[in-house]
Amino acid sequence: MNKLFNKFMRRVISFFANNDLAQELTGGVSGEMMITPGMPELIRAAGAEGCILLANNGVLPLDATTTVSVFGRVQRDYFYVGYGSGGDVRTPYQVNLIEGLRNNGKIKLNEDLAAIYEVWCSKNEADQGFWGHWPRYYPEMPLKEEVVKAAADRSDVAIIVIGRAAGEDRENVLKKGSYYLTDNEIKMLDLVTANFNKVIVIINSGNIIDMAWTEKYGDKLSSILFAWQGGMESGNAIADVLAGTVNPCGKLTDTIARRYEDYPSGAFFGNKEGNNYVEDIFVGYRYFETFAPNKVLYPFGFGLSYTTFKIACSDVSREKDEVILKVHVANTGNLPGKEIVQVYCSTPQGKLGKPAKVLVAFDKTELLSPGKSAEVMIKFNIKQLASYDDSGVTGKKSAYILEPGNYEILLGNSVRETIKVWELTIALDELEVISRGEGVMNSSLGVRGNAGALGGVTESLRAKGIPAVITTDGPAGIRVKKTCSLLPCGTLLACTWNTKLIQDIFHKVGEEMLDKGSDMILSPGMNIHRNPLCGRNFEYYSEDPLISGKIAAAAIIGIQHDGLSACPKHFACNNQETNRNYNDSRVSERALREIYLKGFEIVVKEANPQNIMTSYNKINGVWSHYSYELVTSVLRGEWGYQGNVITDWWMRYASSPEFPQIEGNAYRVRAQVDVLMPGGRTALSKNGKNDGTLLKTYGKKDGITLGEMQRVAANILKYVMNSSAMDR
Ligand code: BGC
Repeated sequence: MNKLFNKFMRRVISFFANNDLAQELTGGVSGEMMITPGMPELIRAAGAEGCILLANNGVLPLDATTTVSVFGRVQRDYFYVGYGSGGDVRTPYQVNLIEGLRNNGKIKLNEDLAAIYEVWCSKNEADQGFWGHWPRYYPEMPLKEEVVKAAADRSDVAIIVIGRAAGEDRENVLKKGSYYLTDNEIKMLDLVTANFNKVIVIINSGNIIDMAWTEKYGDKLSSILFAWQGGMESGNAIADVLAGTVNPCGKLTDTIARRYEDYPSGAFFGNKEGNNYVEDIFVGYRYFETFAPNKVLYPFGFGLSYTTFKIACSDVSREKDEVILKVHVANTGNLPGKEIVQVYCSTPQGKLGKPAKVLVAFDKTELLSPGKSAEVMIKFNIKQLASYDDSGVTGKKSAYILEPGNYEILLGNSVRETIKVWELTIALDELEVISRGEGVMNSSLGVRGNAGALGGVTESLRAKGIPAVITTDGPAGIRVKKTCSLLPCGTLLACTWNTKLIQDIFHKVGEEMLDKGSDMILSPGMNIHRNPLCGRNFEYYSEDPLISGKIAAAAIIGIQHDGLSACPKHFACNNQETNRNYNDSRVSERALREIYLKGFEIVVKEANPQNIMTSYNKINGVWSHYSYELVTSVLRGEWGYQGNVITDWWMRYASSPEFPQIEGNAYRVRAQVDVLMPGGRTALSKNGKNDGTLLKTYGKKDGITLGEMQRVAANILKYVMNSSAMDR
């Protein structure tokens, strides 16, 4: 009755849907059932290559002398595809499993058993249902033990085929006959595994179904082949795999979890009103490999072969944004086969949180004979490694972000079986940005006439709570486009020998800074009066380092209140203006230590300046803004300076003699000169654009490291966080 109703409904629906009934009533289908030349071969090849061999203890491929008994009605009533618009194709023909085995010729079939199924199936024709009410399975032939025993007497190997279908407008369900096996199917497994030593299970289903029972039967199942639904050539394709005409070379494109409940979407599927995608990006293997590797029965990318392969990475290189892997794949087994080389990336956790592994590229070899090998070249763009920031947590909302850190490139033949072959280190351009000023004097971020800004010089940095620090000159008072007190020149101030008075004056300068909007005053100037002709002697204090140091210390202590800061300059030996950017101060270490550095040592130890400005000139051949010895060894190492070091305005570009591949900003950052001021390459740069020199060697041998960039960022941020800019 039910069947009749379904038949009636099919007619009604097809009439309204596409008027096929009219065609059928008036003489059949329109046009000839044409077979596109070459198509069957391609479909057959795909049908075989897409099969996944999940387990095999050597029974497959079938021996030509072996007779097989096939159990399960799906051998005849095969599911070639799913239902609805995704499957409803008027096929010219279709080859079921039993026909495919017969067509193959290499496989001997227990025809007695096949006849039993044929008779039963023709008497119990499968009901095809109608739109949205399609069958999920066909009721299995109740199997009698004597039938199984008789088959076991006649044949060596049993094949059990289990079929499932799903379709448009209708889900699979967590019921027997859909996601789970039916009682009859379990009975069939029990009977067949009890009577045969060699049992092959074939799953004919477009969806993953519960496979937990494969663990229960364990070794009793010799081979498991997930054959999906192979279209009109299904039976031929599977027979090709069973007979070894085609060596299985498909790999799972889904994870088969141990239990349905293990899927992260498990509890959030099928609700009528809506479903919360609580797993977010952690779909499939992205979830299992990250959080629950033990819940996996068969991992993503997995699939066995009748042969074995060795996969080795022979070379990895990077060309611009492209990573290129050369992979050597050797067939180390005894049968020809194809292997799928898979490349995954393990990305740094960062702020966004990442899956343990993400597939980034793959390639499949041609058919490799035993002993033969192939070179596979796999490329991917590093943009593929990026994550999308939808919340703005990285400071770059609504954009794909490559978070800084190490990106491990993994090579293998499933998501589980991988080895690390390379590591790509990516800096977050914010580490680059923070190590230079905004780019111009008179920054729009501060009071007019300022000398430039540092710290939060981009919107993304400011979004993180890092303010822009405004710098202003100078030794004779605040140099901005507002009225400020003009102080006596430096030499006069020093000639007072009155440190208390100097401190009071500069305390008032600090009050003016608060009022005018300056966070850092580029003062005091404290180079030594080496020669009376030096154009900037008036800014400086003395030919003596002690008086220079003490007066400067008094000025610094006066300035540094309420988060305001001084910036003693120019460190060191800026004792003439002629060709000041290129001039080399050739000086003995003794003179350096006793005369030219001494005043700076005094201020560092007595006044704790928050900033120090390097000089324009070279000292004994090395520009001070590149001098590791000056800034890291002496200033920070020997004197214990913990503040921020900035360049004088625009530095000279050069490469390091010790590490010739690093130049410009990388050379500077390695020396721990924290900020290029005011940013940009020259005064004409007009903005603080990344000149590329800091990151050029990042991640390369002897190149600038993440640690070095983080070290200067820490120096800068420590200063900025205690500065008056935080309060503004
Ligand atoms: C001077 C520094 C000054 C900077 C900003 C440079 O030319 O040498 O002393 O602070 O400009 O105006």
